Amino acid sequence: MRRAMSGHYVSSVAGGETVRAFVPVPLPPQPALELIGSRQGALERATLALGRLDSISLLLPDPQLFLYAYVRREAVLSSQIEGTQSSLSDLLLFELDEQPGVPFDDVVEVSNYVAALEHGMARLRDGFPLCNRLLREMHQTLMARGRGADKAPGEFRRTQNWIGGTRPGNAHFVPPPPNEVEACMAALERFLHDDPENPPLPLLLKAALAHVQFETIHPFLDGNGRLGRLLIALLLHAGGALLQPLLYLSLYFKQHRPRYYELLDGVRTQGDWEAWVDFFLEGVEQTATGAVETARRLVTLFQQDGQRVQGTGRGAANLLRVLHSLRQRPLCSLRQIAQRTGISFPTATKAMKALQEIGIARELTGQRRNRVFVYDAYLNILNEGGEAL
Ligand SMILES: Nc1ncnc2c1ncn2[C@@H]1O[C@H](COP(=O)(O)OP(=O)(O)O)[C@@H](O)[C@H]1O
Ligand SMILES: [Mg+2]
Repeated sequence: MRRAMSGHYVSSVAGGETVRAFVPVPLPPQPALELIGSRQGALERATLALGRLDSISLLLPDPQLFLYAYVRREAVLSSQIEGTQSSLSDLLLFELDEQPGVPFDDVVEVSNYVAALEHGMARLRDGFPLCNRLLREMHQTLMARGRGADKAPGEFRRTQNWIGGTRPGNAHFVPPPPNEVEACMAALERFLHDDPENPPLPLLLKAALAHVQFETIHPFLDGNGRLGRLLIALLLHAGGALLQPLLYLSLYFKQHRPRYYELLDGVRTQGDWEAWVDFFLEGVEQTATGAVETARRLVTLFQQDGQRVQGTGRGAANLLRVLHSLRQRPLCSLRQIAQRTGISFPTATKAMKALQEIGIARELTGQRRNRVFVYDAYLNILNEGGEAL
């Protein structure tokens, strides 16, 4: 549905140029979101898929393990949308913190993303509400190390920013002037907390609308895309749809990036929230269904490999311990495996060799010392769909 533009322009100064900055009207959309026929159906399908995804965190043998892998996969994909080059194995290598030579700035960015999400989750667990203060705290973590460190971590911006273009004057889009950011974000926070003046919206729609509004406000100097995507996951968790933050739309957004950006524009210029919501709900259904499928395949893989190892006869107990360790960290060093499993270094070395021989583990570095092993089949399942992962 087309409405009038969902905000107004004011003049603002950026980089010595006067530009037209866009100030959005607070959510929810007026007139209200059109929830007829096919859109209602899409909402139901997305909600059902989300419910199935949520149930796996109760049914999986080791949900934390799935969360560990999924959060990292999301961190890589969300950071890749705007050009960060790190892969999932770069991140896992970096986290081993024994491996020099991984391109530092990129991987630190991805690692910060994991930390920001974990910080957000920990605060919510402690009963802190999902509010602007929490978003600022997460931004601080997201920008703490690497390139973001000079981008005012943890603070709403005090200068005018712009999106696209080489300078403010030819920007694709200029978000609100800095003196409007606080008010825009306060309004968004009220919307998140179910303003009693407005009828409550289904959680998925709330997340869909909040993400766009956040991107339109672009309250930080950098990291708005990543934080806006984290907001979706946290909102679904805080609102009770997901026990664990397991829904991540970054792969979908990455695969449809031009459309993603076009729809953000469409909301602003034509008030077309409906087209965005349709795209978003389709993404939720696809992603949640895909995540359930991934979990199922991981469980099968773990069962099959467990059986293969058991079939090796003598020494299988140690092999199983090492295999278990690889399930928890699909990339790891022998020292860590020895530490984690409590078996001796030589025994771990021998067991790993056996796992290599039956094709479960592979050595990554080609070196004789500080070797790193990878559980290939596991990593491959996680990598699917994100080519550059
Ligand atoms: N036309 C647009 N309108 C509003 N938001 C946009 C538009 N194009 C891109 N974006 C959002 O801006 C993000 C980039 O902003 P930025 O602050 O650099 O975030 P990050 O550093 O996390 O990528 C994109 O990931 C996307 O979410
Ligand atoms: Mg950026």
